[in-house]
Amino acid sequence: MRTVHSLKELRAILSGYRQQEKTIGLVPTMGNLHEGHISLIRKAAEAADIVVTTIFVNPMQFGANEDLDTYPRTLLSDQDKLSEAGNSLVFAPSAEEIYPDGLAQHTRVIVPDVSDGHCGASRPKHFEGVATVVSVLFNMIQPDVAVFGEKDFQQLAVIRKMTRDLMMPIEIIGAPTVREDDGLAKSSRNGYLSAEERAIAPAIYQILEATAAKIADGRCDFLALAQEAGDSLNNAGLYLDYFNIANSQTLKPAVPEDQDITLMAAAYLGATRLIDNISVTR
Ligand code: PAF
Repeated sequence: MRTVHSLKELRAILSGYRQQEKTIGLVPTMGNLHEGHISLIRKAAEAADIVVTTIFVNPMQFGANEDLDTYPRTLLSDQDKLSEAGNSLVFAPSAEEIYPDGLAQHTRVIVPDVSDGHCGASRPKHFEGVATVVSVLFNMIQPDVAVFGEKDFQQLAVIRKMTRDLMMPIEIIGAPTVREDDGLAKSSRNGYLSAEERAIAPAIYQILEATAAKIADGRCDFLALAQEAGDSLNNAGLYLDYFNIANSQTLKPAVPEDQDITLMAAAYLGATRLIDNISVTR
């Protein structure tokens, strides 16, 4: 498995694959890979002949007070995990390769509506950074399919809309969240948690599940349910960012007529912000 850092090397290798009429699957990541990422690579390998994983900690999607500087960069161990998982090629560009004129000068992609609310409310411009870098990566690699985790539910909605609106000929595949035995969604940020915080963290999924069960049982007073769930998260020792109950397609507040509903939560444990979600079909 090769790792390349420049667009020139990347395009040379990709054009060889294309001459052999191989289909290309892309898994964009920020590295520090865990089993959740590996499941995306396996999903891409089912859908395409060649899997390209990108590793790029994208400065454009981090806010000023966020963890850009401390975000774990673990290229060597990531490469080992990728080659075991059957990945074909790693693209690990520098910031200069992605943003040659610098961040401030770079053309940006804004995806309206689905970028608003939820994480978009607490992380202004985050999804602009995500949509921009994913567009750049799509243009660099020109994959047939691209796989993203459902754990970042709003991100997946933003990318689906961007791909549709910009007529990008790429199939977007969502992959189910991979969890620890106690239900905590796998995330690179779990590594920031102290032992005490780690013991509290599964409460997010437990409260999501308990609330989803109430909806499946017929409750549709969504605002009250979200309020109760948020209180439970705070009582469990987390600090609530949001707990929202949304229409799974539009991400707007759910109404009783909705059949596909997604419960989305974000909460802090110390300085670590964790997100998770669960979907219910009624
Ligand atoms: O989900 C992530 O790791 C990132 O947001 C992504 C999609 C790789 C864009 O930087």
